[in-house]
Amino acid sequence: MAKIWETKAGAGVDPFIDEFLSSVQADSRLLREDLEGSLAHAAMLGRTGIIPEATAAALAGGLSELAALARAGSLAVDPGAEDVHSFVEAELTRRLGDAGRSLHAGRSRNDQVALDLRLWMRRASGEVSATILDAIDALCALASRGLTAVMPGYTHMQRAQAVTFAHHLLAWCAALERDHGRFADAEARADECPLGACALAGTGLPIDRELCARELGFARPSRNSMDAVADRDAAVEFASCAATLLMHLSRFCEEIVLWASSEFGFVRVGPSCSTGSSVMPQKRNPDPAELIRGKSGRAYGSLVALLVMQKGLPLAYDRDLQEDKALVFEAGDTALSCLRAFCLLVASLEPQAGRMRDAAESGCLWAADAAEFLVSRGIPFRTAYAAGRALVEAWVRAAEGGGFGRNPAIAGVIAALGEAGLAGLHPAWAGVSPGELVPYLSLEACIARRDLVGGPAPARTASEIGRLAAFTKSERGRTRDRV
Ligand code: ARG
Repeated sequence: MAKIWETKAGAGVDPFIDEFLSSVQADSRLLREDLEGSLAHAAMLGRTGIIPEATAAALAGGLSELAALARAGSLAVDPGAEDVHSFVEAELTRRLGDAGRSLHAGRSRNDQVALDLRLWMRRASGEVSATILDAIDALCALASRGLTAVMPGYTHMQRAQAVTFAHHLLAWCAALERDHGRFADAEARADECPLGACALAGTGLPIDRELCARELGFARPSRNSMDAVADRDAAVEFASCAATLLMHLSRFCEEIVLWASSEFGFVRVGPSCSTGSSVMPQKRNPDPAELIRGKSGRAYGSLVALLVMQKGLPLAYDRDLQEDKALVFEAGDTALSCLRAFCLLVASLEPQAGRMRDAAESGCLWAADAAEFLVSRGIPFRTAYAAGRALVEAWVRAAEGGGFGRNPAIAGVIAALGEAGLAGLHPAWAGVSPGELVPYLSLEACIARRDLVGGPAPARTASEIGRLAAFTKSERGRTRDRV
């Protein structure tokens, strides 16, 4: 296929270099966007009188026909084309003759490709955002089944304090809600139409940039023609949103893998999302969780490559920028496929409340509450902390041969100590009766007292689930309004 810029067909470019320079394999995915942008451009050319209305109408007809074929999947992009933009122009010219040759007035492939990529990212960002909402809904559905399921919360991977399964899942939702906001922020900043920047300096023809921007659903034309064709910070932001999202999904999946292990046993991964082993018939492996964790690196790779690609580039367009598309597609595809798998994975989880509760019963998760018990009676925190520690030490002595078994309930240990034994542990315990202390330290009581904004008390988590449900509903409504 002759190049659109070639004066003499076949003049000069080495066949390997020709293939090396081609971007069609990656950018044929922009076919739909390229046709959409070309339709708006052609209409503008007619409206401004740059080309006759009849020519504009012919272009509109030809482009719509190509768009219909593309939608039906029956427009094959010529793999010999230099890029999708050259292909569309050549195909149009093949069908329309001279009218096709009028399309490229007042634009360049440089503003065209910048536009196409923005259109693609806008759509992808919408899909990813909607799927983030699905993930939040799936997590909330699971959380509502675990409002009172006590489980250990960890720091340093050591059992620390009691939380609920719901509260832990809502922590994931909090991160996903910010991911959703990040995509929206990036979209708002990318909401400028590069069309009309042309090669780098705009055009002397009387084009109407506002018209094109409006037609394509952008807030405004981009503010500087050189920046419009040279900068790919919108791609960096898109990849960065995807990278942060995948970092989150990867962490959550790591927890699912741990929880599904025999060591934890907090969840079972349902048959729809687990696989067996070809060798060990007893196994159910949480493969989707592992693969999401494994794929997160792809988005980080795209982000870093997009940054490095641009860091040394003089303004305006340089061919290096052609690398942007494959990287953006990789980030978008990874985000979307991992999110979809994550939604299914979450829906398949079967929480094992008994195992969670058992784990929460050991590890002295009540220790900080023992100190708080004393603080609430006017003891300074440091003193209360020391008294709490003395109680933990008494528990350890009981566990190590006090005849209580290896994991004694604190209630039994305190009862055996009695009021005098308790006071003997530390002066701050003087006057405290076991009858007051024991119920204070039950895991349910510890959780119920944490009835604070952002806390694990069941009433708080229930209302947070309600807030999230309203959030996903209103965000879905907003997206529908915009489309
Ligand atoms: N295939 C090119 C890209 O993706 C399109 C722009 C080409 N512009 C140019 N002046 N060679 O960046």
